[in-house]
Amino acid sequence: MSNVALSTTRHRLYLRWLSRCPSRHAGSLASNRHRTSLQLLHQCQIQRRAAKTWATFKLHELPQQKSDAEREALEDEDVGPAYPTVVLQARNNMRKYENCVLLTRVGSFFELYFDQADKYGPLLNLKVAQKKTAAGPVSMAGFPFYQLDRFLKILVQDLNEYVAISEEFANSASGTVKSGGLMFDRKVTRTITPGTLIDEKFMDPYENNFLLALHPIDTDQAPNAPSNETIPAELAKGSIAPALVSKRIGLAWLDLSTGDFFTQTTTLGTLASAAARIGAREIVLSGGLNDSLRQSILDMLEQQRHLITYHTTQLAENSISSWAPMLEAEVPTQVQTTFSSEEIAAGSLLLAYVRGRLQGSGIKLQPPVRRQHKETMSIDKNSMRALEVLGTSKEGLGGGKGSLLHTVRRTVTKSGTRLLRDWIASPSMSLPVINARLDLVTQLRHDRGFREDITNLLRRTYDSQRLVQKFSMGRGDADDLISLLRTIEATNGIASTLQTRLLPSSNQKSVDEKDQKARSSLQALSSRLSLDGPNALAALINASIDEDGLMESHRVEETENADIVSMAQDVLQNEGSAEDQAAMSRISKTKVKPKAPPEQEPEEQDTWIIRRSASPVLEALHEALDGLRQDKASLTSRLRDELDAHSLSLRWTPGMGYICHVKGAKDVAASMKTSAATRDVRTTKSTRAFHQSEWSSLGGRIDQAKQRIRAEEQRVFQKLRGQVVMNLVKLRRNAAVLDELDIGCSFAILAEEQGLIRPVLNLGVDHKIVGGRHPTVKQGLEEQGRAFVSNDCFIGEKERIWLITGPNMAGKSTFLRQNALISILAQVGCFVPAEHAEIGLVDQIFTRVGSADNLFRDQSTFMVEMMETAAILNQATPQSFVIMDEIGRGTTPEDGIAVGFACLHHLYHKNRCRTLFATHFHALADMTNHFKHLACYCTDVAEEDGGSFSFVHRLRKGVNRSSHALKVARLAGIPEAAIETARAVLKRLDGSSPKHTEQAQPQFARA
Ligand SMILES: Nc1ncnc2c1ncn2[C@@H]1O[C@H](COP(=O)(O)OP(=O)(O)O)[C@@H](O)[C@H]1O
Ligand SMILES: [Mg+2]
Repeated sequence: MSNVALSTTRHRLYLRWLSRCPSRHAGSLASNRHRTSLQLLHQCQIQRRAAKTWATFKLHELPQQKSDAEREALEDEDVGPAYPTVVLQARNNMRKYENCVLLTRVGSFFELYFDQADKYGPLLNLKVAQKKTAAGPVSMAGFPFYQLDRFLKILVQDLNEYVAISEEFANSASGTVKSGGLMFDRKVTRTITPGTLIDEKFMDPYENNFLLALHPIDTDQAPNAPSNETIPAELAKGSIAPALVSKRIGLAWLDLSTGDFFTQTTTLGTLASAAARIGAREIVLSGGLNDSLRQSILDMLEQQRHLITYHTTQLAENSISSWAPMLEAEVPTQVQTTFSSEEIAAGSLLLAYVRGRLQGSGIKLQPPVRRQHKETMSIDKNSMRALEVLGTSKEGLGGGKGSLLHTVRRTVTKSGTRLLRDWIASPSMSLPVINARLDLVTQLRHDRGFREDITNLLRRTYDSQRLVQKFSMGRGDADDLISLLRTIEATNGIASTLQTRLLPSSNQKSVDEKDQKARSSLQALSSRLSLDGPNALAALINASIDEDGLMESHRVEETENADIVSMAQDVLQNEGSAEDQAAMSRISKTKVKPKAPPEQEPEEQDTWIIRRSASPVLEALHEALDGLRQDKASLTSRLRDELDAHSLSLRWTPGMGYICHVKGAKDVAASMKTSAATRDVRTTKSTRAFHQSEWSSLGGRIDQAKQRIRAEEQRVFQKLRGQVVMNLVKLRRNAAVLDELDIGCSFAILAEEQGLIRPVLNLGVDHKIVGGRHPTVKQGLEEQGRAFVSNDCFIGEKERIWLITGPNMAGKSTFLRQNALISILAQVGCFVPAEHAEIGLVDQIFTRVGSADNLFRDQSTFMVEMMETAAILNQATPQSFVIMDEIGRGTTPEDGIAVGFACLHHLYHKNRCRTLFATHFHALADMTNHFKHLACYCTDVAEEDGGSFSFVHRLRKGVNRSSHALKVARLAGIPEAAIETARAVLKRLDGSSPKHTEQAQPQFARA
């Protein structure tokens, strides 16, 4: 097969390469990949005729027969069985990347071998075949290359495996000689782990895909860090030695798909909360940690069952300046000094790990943003879970239905949703930031038309954060350029919508202060948009990419993918078992179109994705090609006349090269008479193929012209990629503005839907919430046609602690949570479900609520309860907000009361924070009635005639000494006899035990 010979097939393959192939392979890989696939297709055609099983044709028929020299070279690495080269290469790669599942590219397929085929074949629903080799049978399983994403999803995302992708590279002529005739080399180009996804289609677009590295400082200098000696082993499970609690840990996390990069310093004690907030897919730990420290970190993390990877780096890499090659802009020197040494250690570990995974392919991250503890409200991991901030307890942190995130989300873009998640997980502590957000919501809340214009434009944007990141990594195809173009167009629309809104309206005489504020929030957003560079880029994309051509090339590609499947099916139909076919149909989700009959005239269907006017060179090349096509048409008609064969056509086929093709007995016979000077290739009664020198030469020139066009297209495409990268920072900045607008609109829509009001935040320590509601419970009740009773909450300087008693099921827990949620929403910059809300900024929210879900941790309920309580008592400040729900339930009533009192005492005297404390131990009310800043409130049961009753959800001042537990028990269906027994016991206890009454505890009451 001649190298310059081109066909429609080759062109399609080229197109696919042009739009998919990373630029680092540009040039060399163009012809290589092209040739590889072509050879395979060629072979497939032959195979189809020979009808071999698809398992054998892949290996056996590939042009990589071992030469002696090659066998020697390979056996150096792998002494032992004489496997075929591909298998041997795979085996060496499996050893080199021993923790990974190896996928080896063989032509149009990816293959698994040996025990990996046995293990993962069934999990991936792939048939495992036994390949016969000189060294015995080898298990193998495979799938078409274009289904890579689907199988990666199962391996990486569902099974949490690390996957190494081994691509094939055609050896150059000299390389082929050097390697002893080996035409292909296979190298692992990337290893993919759950935390290092880049642009895989299965990534969740609504969530960041974070990879987190953590690094305690001094690990190498202090091999004998304090151990757990102070805590008995069985108790220490899940807890850490007090000496280690304050150990500082550096965190660094990034999302390869967006280029986001953050660092933070935390302590071992708060590590779990930080990890819960970040929600990383994978955590990297230094391989060089000492045992006790590593164990402590794992104990902290295990509670959330993270995927942990160990990685060891050289200490020399431990500086911010070493990060520069991976950043889009350098970190200024003054900023560098703000990073703590543990953050630098964590960042260096993180980047070193990523470099290894990407095998040297370029990456441009945004300069690291340092998150500081004080900038955000910290929601500890128990609160995160108990308040269902990001996900419900049933589904982990997935943002599932019923979670706060799910309830408030009305965003229309993917990246806006990711930012919303980030905001909700870390509400702000800055009044200016919160007020600016609230101003924007106010503006959007009142002007529905304006808001709808904005959301309609936002809907037309694409995820530029992820798109831009693709280009920064040398990826990004023509479709991505079109998506960027649409986004830039929509951004222009948004900019002018904002501008119009900012013009002083004619019917508005004076602009009041409020309006002025709201305007300035729009002004601030609008001034952050930079459009000059992006508009030039948009114009260039418009002028260069031929969208019709692009669509056509997708159509061609789909047909081609279907061809691969139908090819495999043909093979199976002829020789495979029914089982093989079932396996095949499982992997071929794409509709398989019937193949065109082979005798049909192959059409000239060159699809170009770059407009011919994109460059003068391209224009000239296309004109030249047009001329050659003209020549071809003339030659065709001349030959038809000369040979008296009207069916004659000029073609190229992989097997025969440039041929004149004639069909039909009459034409064949006629052509035979006059063409003595030609060389026949194949002649049957009904068709004839022969070589003709003029066509051979013209065909060659046509193919050369096409090749030049492709080279020029590639140059134009690279230029476009370059332009995107030049605009990287601006595009990202614009995207950030759109994300904030999306959230603003989302909050405004929500406010309108649910009648939310703007909260007033201040630097005090009071909660003044009038008519507060629980956002999700209210919705749930209303869906069942029931009404929600709103409640006020006035905790703060005057009444620091509210001690709440009342029957089961009357809304204590709901009240506690709703106030925590209102605080979170307010500091996120969202309107809140209340009639009025004035809230002093909360630095930390702590929750100690019901047990239930901790059993998997292998800890007793009471132990968990105490650990969580310890965290609260140790960490809450006067600015914090604590909710404690039924502390002391998991032990005897006496112990429970004792612990409950101790907590109240500590919170009141030491932490001095706002606290909502719900309990059934009404004795606690008596024991604390000398706490001046503690007030008692209760819910109740309203008894009705005839023994029925209803819950009073409205809180009132006072203590409710009856829990009405038996009423609830009966409601739940406990047999009447058992209820009677319980009632009798209760009567006896009430008579005999004065323990929990006021009189029995005078020493507390008046201490
Ligand atoms: N303010 C309210 N208005 C109406 N129904 C409520 C209210 N608060 C709670 N409920 C209903 O009562 C149920 C039990 O509430 P919960 O807070 O768990 O009670 P408690 O903690 O007192 O046992 C909730 O699931 C909800 O259906
Ligand atoms: Mg409760």
